[in-house]
Formats: sequence, C-alpha cells, structure tokens
Amino acid sequence: MNILLLGSGGREHAFALSLSKSALCSKLFIAPGNAGTSSCGTNVNVQPNDFESVKAFVLKESIALVVVGPEDPLVNGIVDFFESDVAIKNIPVIGPGKTGAQLEGSKDFSKAFMQRHGIPTAGYDTFTFAKLEEGYKFLETLNPPYVLKADGLAAGKGVLIINDLDIAKQELKSMLSDGKFGKAGDKVVIEEFLSGIECSVFVLTDGKHYKILPAAKDYKRIGEGDTGLNTGGMGAVSPVPFADAAFLKKTEERIVIPTIEGLKKEAINYKGFIFIGLMNVGGEPMVIEYNCRMGDPETEAVLPRIKTDFGVLMQATADEKLDTIQLEIDERTAATVVMVSGGYPGNYEKDYEVRGIEKVEDTLVFHAGTAVTNGNVVTNGGRVFALTSLDETLQGALNKSFAAAHHINYDYAYYRKDIGKDLM
Ligand code: AMP
Ligand code: GLY
Repeated sequence: MNILLLGSGGREHAFALSLSKSALCSKLFIAPGNAGTSSCGTNVNVQPNDFESVKAFVLKESIALVVVGPEDPLVNGIVDFFESDVAIKNIPVIGPGKTGAQLEGSKDFSKAFMQRHGIPTAGYDTFTFAKLEEGYKFLETLNPPYVLKADGLAAGKGVLIINDLDIAKQELKSMLSDGKFGKAGDKVVIEEFLSGIECSVFVLTDGKHYKILPAAKDYKRIGEGDTGLNTGGMGAVSPVPFADAAFLKKTEERIVIPTIEGLKKEAINYKGFIFIGLMNVGGEPMVIEYNCRMGDPETEAVLPRIKTDFGVLMQATADEKLDTIQLEIDERTAATVVMVSGGYPGNYEKDYEVRGIEKVEDTLVFHAGTAVTNGNVVTNGGRVFALTSLDETLQGALNKSFAAAHHINYDYAYYRKDIGKDLM
C-alpha cells in the first residue's frame, strides 16, 4: 500500500525509516518532510494543516494509510475532516479525532478527563479573566513553586513555574488579561507542583486495545545540568532505568487502562498514539500531561527499538486489531543526542552547510531541521539532527552518539554532552 506521513521533523524521519522498511509499504510519501526523509520515500510539497491539499494528494496517489506526526493537524481536526468526506472516509488516519486531541490541545480538558477517571495527577483549578480574583485566592492556598499553564497549544512554552507568590499573581494576570500566550492563555490551569523525576510512556491504541511502547526520558533544557531555556528536546534515552517493571505496572494499572477505558466510556474516537508525560513521585507515577502524538526526540529513541513491522502495527491500529500483534522490542538501550543551531531556542541563523555525515558509523542520523540547497545539506531549523545509537549499555550508546556528533560539522553547532548522565 501507499502511505502518507505528515510532518517534517526528526520524529518524522524516524517514522519514515520504520515505515519504509515495512513489508506492507509500496510507496512512502512525506509531506513536507526534510532532507533526511527523502532517503526513505518521496517528499511532497503539501502542508499538514492544508487538509484540502492533503485530500487531493491522497486521492491522486491512491494512499491507503495516513500517519500524522505533529499535534496541530490532529487538534485542527484532520481525522474528522477525513471521516466526514465520502471520497476519503475509508482511508484510515492514525491519530485521534478532534475531541481526543484535546487531551493535548486543552490542559483544562485533560485535567478534567483525568479527574473524571481517577487518574493520578496534580490537584488543580482552571481560571478565566472573569475569575482572576479567585485565581489569586487559589494561589494563596498552594505552596511554592506555583505552576501556571496556558490552556491551549503554546509550542511547549505555555508552562510557567514560579517561586514567588506575587510574581505568580502578576503572571496569572498577564496570561489572562494581556494575552501573554495569545488565545492559548484565555484559560489558565493552576496546579500543585510535583517533585520528582520525569519520564514518558507511549501508548498505541486502536480505540479498543492498546500496546505500551518503550518508555523514554527526554532532556528539555538547552543547558547542561538541565539549566537554561526549555527547548523541544535536546536528547532522549530509552529504556529509562527508574521506570522499572514495578513502576510500569503501576503506570499501566492506574493510568494507561483508565485512560483507554475513559476514552471508550466517553465515546471519544482515538486510534493513535498517547504520549503520557509522567512524574515519578517517590516511586508513584503521576501524570504531568498527555500529548496526542509521539514525542520528539523520544520517537528517535523509541522507534529504533521496535522490531515489529511498523506498517503492520499502523494497519492493525486502523483495523482495531492491535490485540493480534505481538510487540517485539530490542532490549538494548537507545541514546539520542540532538544537535541544534547556535542560539536555539532563541534566534539562530539557517543555511549553514553540513559536512561529515558520511563519516558517521553505527549511528542513525535523523534529520530534523535540514534542507538541500544546490545539492548540499544545509541547516534549516533550531534542532538540526537527532543522532541515535543502540548498545548493550547506556554508556556505550552515548559514546556512539557523541562520536557521531563529533563527525558532523556546521557553523555554530551545539549539543548537550550530559545526555543520560543523570541515569547512570
Ligand atoms: P507540560 O507542558 O504540562 O508538560 O509542562 C512542561 C514542563 O513543566 C513539564 O515537563 C515539567 O517539567 C514541568 N511541570 C509541569 N507541570 C508540573 C507540575 N505540576 N509539577 C512540577 N513540574 C511540572
Ligand atoms: N519532547 C517533548 C515533546 O515532544 O513534546
């Protein structure tokens, strides 16, 4: 069958590699893709949020399966768009419908969902501008630090963690009245601070059954020792040593099963990935957030460990037959190091020529922000590459990925040299 993958980052390069190896895949198209995805299939100049163009392409190339990488087409309702159009309603799209995507698209929706289904998460309340004074009072009942979250999608920047009560009040006001995060901040979730270490668990569901994919830990801050600004993610490790069998069992019983059952009970159409961001609070898993897609760069560490034919896995999701699939996981550790443009996550320059990729051995070079200009690979984004290596040990996997990062050169390249250190 012909498969269309939507997206253009390192996550999509990892998806493209896995899909291109599937026995079910005849032709793979990536819209719009990047310089790396073109080695797995054909890049097409279609934007994932331009649903009419996606539809036209799907019909023109007889696409039999669509896999969605990023969250915004899902939150914007691409699944509902397909299902309500007779010409394409039988073409499965891997990802939740618009309501299910609210698990990521609205913090208030996801917190209320967790509360309805008894899923462990930090206590919270939600405020609009009309309830600003009540928001101040709620803050006064909490202990610092104070956690303020813009309700809507804010490209990973909508969460503030503040030590001082007065500053927290000021920030709440500027989110609700001054549009600090635009429309995403029309509602603000205030929640209790959870203290612990984070990891992510990924679930694939067909709406009836589920498979738990390998867990991963990502490194969000730009600076070593988890300092500086938040980024999309500077590295990832899978598996996560502290997410051991006991922790994962609790996660499955208390979080995964109630989440799947909750979606069923509420008749929420969900065939796709659920990314569960967890805090390990003294050995107990608590949900920090849901995302309605895979993580980036976690995907680049997780997918290379999945030995099961990925196209078969996607088709089984579409067919509600995940219960017939036996997941086969590579026991080795995957370590992903992300190379970024100097200045990221602030301002950075693009179009620097990349050299040395051909010197890399034994490491998967996933392109994130790259393009091809005059036959040369050039930088084209903040996160440029995600380098994933597998090894029997975490140290061995990291050594390989750092060696690869050393080979790849472009002006003002930067990567964190402490990925995985906290886990050893
Ligand atoms: P979110 O977008 O909800 O994942 O939040 C972004 C980041 O803020 C998380 O990855 C955590 O590091 C941190 N965070 C969010 N909520 C909490 C919380 N209740 N307690 C402590 N840290 C939090
Ligand atoms: N790496 C975090 C995310 O994909 O949201």
